[in-house]
Order: sequence, then structure tokens, then C-alpha cells
Amino acid sequence: MTDFDGTILVTGARGNIGSRLTAALAAAGLQVRATARDTSGLDVPDGVETAALDLTAPDATVLKGVRTAFLYPTFGDIGGFLTAAVEAGVEHVVLLSSPAAYDPVEHAGPIGAAHLAIEAAVRDSGLGHTVLYPSWLATNPARDWSAQIRAGKVAIAHPEWRINPIHLGDVAEVAADLLVSERFRGRSIILTGPESLSQREVVAQIAAARGKPIAVEELTRDEALASRPDWFPEAMFASLLDVAANLGDRPATVNNNVERVTGRPARSFAQWLQDNGSEF
Ligand SMILES: NC(=O)c1ccc[n+]([C@@H]2O[C@H](COP(=O)([O-])OP(=O)(O)OC[C@H]3O[C@@H](n4cnc5c(N)ncnc54)[C@H](OP(=O)(O)O)[C@@H]3O)[C@@H](O)[C@H]2O)c1
Repeated sequence: MTDFDGTILVTGARGNIGSRLTAALAAAGLQVRATARDTSGLDVPDGVETAALDLTAPDATVLKGVRTAFLYPTFGDIGGFLTAAVEAGVEHVVLLSSPAAYDPVEHAGPIGAAHLAIEAAVRDSGLGHTVLYPSWLATNPARDWSAQIRAGKVAIAHPEWRINPIHLGDVAEVAADLLVSERFRGRSIILTGPESLSQREVVAQIAAARGKPIAVEELTRDEALASRPDWFPEAMFASLLDVAANLGDRPATVNNNVERVTGRPARSFAQWLQDNGSEF
């Protein structure tokens, strides 16, 4: 990939994006320090160093020799980590954020505000940084609908809401490039998958990949709120329903930024299902 020399720190190395990023960097022969708040059982490729790191309670020794770092948008105060990173001479960080931070409906809501707060903390730290805004992560159906998919019926509000699922391998490969190359430093980069699909079409593609039908039942806003999973904060869940209601069935914006950074086109949701067929 590059002749980049020095340690690259990855936060959330067991996360969906963090684990793929760690693998991509290791495959390119780069020196990676993969971190998690609790490293027990953390599975990393051979040759990858591991270390404990909680961004809200950092131990500065984890930054020794680090040139660049990938940061999850952790909620909570990461000021201590950022100060330690400046003192340790970290050159650049790649911050994962969310389209909620710029969406006109969502940016003032709870998801947007939380991501904007961490963007502001990184900006105010003076660290060189690039912000990544991936679109609708292709892991969302497994996160939100697994049990329903297995039962053959997905109940959702706004099934015609159009999104642009992005393959997490693409997010990871873009992040890997930004950590070692100077081409896009200081930018804010919106990443999307290659196609605009309605939630109904996403479910249809999952059904086709599984070879089993999945019905879609349309929920009202109140029914959707009542079906909210416990882990999803109510204000955030409601804010997503507002975005879907606001956009209606308009096409989701698609760009070619994955290709502009990595040199190859973004992978489709069908490809994601082929690559991750067992995730349901
Ligand atoms: N869902 C979407 O469509 C969407 C779209 C755009 C952006 N996003 C952003 O992407 C994120 C999800 O990405 P993902 O699926 O890769 O996440 P994930 O699999 O849930 O992993 C999140 C990682 O964050 C780490 N983390 C949490 N708190 C931390 C702390 N205090 N210090 C250090 N690390 C901490 C966790 O590490 P531990 O191992 O220590 O727990 C975990 O590995 C969302 O939270 C959102 O911000 C989501």
C-alpha cells in the first residue's frame, strides 16, 4: 500500500469497521496497535500489537510512537486523549462520524449533536484530522432486523425510505488509505454505497440472498416507537424516524468517493450479502 513508517493506532479494534480496518492495515504490512477498552479475547491478525484504550480515560503510554490514529466517535469527554495525542506528536487522526452531523433534519437532533460534539473536540485540539461520513452501514439489517429476518417478516416504518448501504470493507479501506496517505488530509469525506435502495428493496435483496421470502409490514410512527429495541435510545430512534418521514421516497444521494480514494468502485449491498451471508 505504502512505505508509511510508524505505528497506526486503531480504536475499537473489535468493532465492525475497526476490525476490518485493522485487518486491511495488517494485510498491507503496516505497523498497527489495535485497541479496545478490554483487550481480553481481542482477535487480531498475526503481528498486530494490542493495547487497552478507553478514549474517555486514556493512558498516554498507548500513544508511544503513534503517527496516525483512527477514532470512533465515542460519546463522553475525549479531551484528555486528544491532549495526550498532541503531546505524543500524533500527526493525524481519522475520525468516524455520521451523516446525522450534517443532515438538515438530524444535525440538531441527538445523533447529530453527539457526533458534532466529538468533531468539535477533535478540531479544537489542533490535531490534523480527516472526518469520514459513511452512509447507511450494511451491518444495520443484522443489527436491527436479525430475529425478524429469521422469522420471515420485517416490520418497519417508512419501507420506501431510500438509503445507500455501504460495504464496511469499503469504509475500512478508505480509512486505511487516509491513515497512511497525505492526499485528503483536513477534508470531510462523505462515503456512500453505489446505489440508492428503499428499505423494502434491502429486505428483498436479503430474502433473495437467503432464498427465503421475507414479508414487509409497514408500521406507523407510534408502532415503530413501541417496537424500539432497548439498546437504542428513544430520542435517537425518533430522530431517525423523522429523517425517514422527511425524505419520503426520494433517492438517496450516491457519490463515487470510495473509488476516488481507493481507486476501485464501491461494492454493492448484494456483494455485502455474498461476503457476509452468515450474519443473520
Ligand atoms: N449505523 C449507521 O448506518 C452509521 C452510519 C454512519 C456512521 N455511523 C457511525 O458508526 C458507528 C458504528 O460503527 P461500527 O458498526 O463499526 O461500531 P461497533 O461495531 O458498534 O463498534 C464500536 C466500537 O467503539 C469502541 N468504543 C466505544 N466506546 C469507546 C471508548 N470509550 N473508548 C474506546 N473505544 C470505544 C468499541 O470498543 P470496545 O471493544 O472497547 O467496546 C467498539 O469496538 C456508529 O456508532 C456511528 O457513530 C453509523
